[in-house]
Amino acid sequence: MPDIACLNGTITPLNDAKVSVNDRGFLFGDGVYEVIRTYGSRPFRLEAHLDRLYQSLSQVRIVPNWERATLTAWIDAVLARAGHAETKIYVQVTRGVAPRNHPFPPVPPTTLVTATEIHPLPADVVRAGVAAISMPDIRWARCDVKSLNLLPNVLARQAALDAGAFEALFVGDGVVREGSSSNVFGVIGGALVTPPLGPRLLPGVSRAYLLEVARDLGLTVHERDLSLAELQAADEVFLTGTTIEVLGVTRIDGATIGNGTVGPVTRRLAARFRPAARAAG
Ligand code: PDD
Repeated sequence: MPDIACLNGTITPLNDAKVSVNDRGFLFGDGVYEVIRTYGSRPFRLEAHLDRLYQSLSQVRIVPNWERATLTAWIDAVLARAGHAETKIYVQVTRGVAPRNHPFPPVPPTTLVTATEIHPLPADVVRAGVAAISMPDIRWARCDVKSLNLLPNVLARQAALDAGAFEALFVGDGVVREGSSSNVFGVIGGALVTPPLGPRLLPGVSRAYLLEVARDLGLTVHERDLSLAELQAADEVFLTGTTIEVLGVTRIDGATIGNGTVGPVTRRLAARFRPAARAAG
């Protein structure tokens, strides 16, 4: 099945889509993005992703030159053309193409939508859980904006892989914020604990959905700050994200979480997350 792109409204095979070297996304990382996935071939929580995209765009002062319905139609079009069983939809909007100069140029934004096949994590990885490391949070103060500037995230993720771990957790001002591309939760005394929303972390669509699932299951949820030591001492820890769904963490910086296996609350939430996501479409 082909991977498909829609670049400023023109649909082509992914490899045929070309952007100028003067695109500000390339030169400055001057843009924002979303990653959306399908369940049952339908985009999951599309409106929440589009709301967050509009929020990111307005925070970085990029004015889209399309209507929301047009963007939705592009997403539908790439999905239909790609025809994958389940698809990862990537949307990126940059400030457009202009000779390199810092001030905003008077040009339209560049809008890219791609559809590629989703490769879920191997089942044995999900069953066993993963290790994480902590990293100082050296990112900017507006991590609620889904900006293309992912250098600290990229470095952190690679540091995690180099250390034999899966994810890096950013820690700043004595509290854990989120992973390099995931939100983080602890299970403490039977209750779920996750860092509160604010400018230092991304308001994850999966995070919001997980909280709905947890409340449906009757779990108590606390959105509050957590120190790294508190998270390491939690009964269970897990990550959420569009591509990883719910993923248990069994070690952080070498400290074993709980008994070192994916715990019962995480397993229960993970089991509910996927079928429910499919039904919720
Ligand atoms: N990342 N925190 C960060 C820093 C992220 O980059 C992401 C997602 C999340 C989880 O958000 P959501 O549940 O809406 O996917 C949290 C995407 C998947 C990425 O950059 O590939």
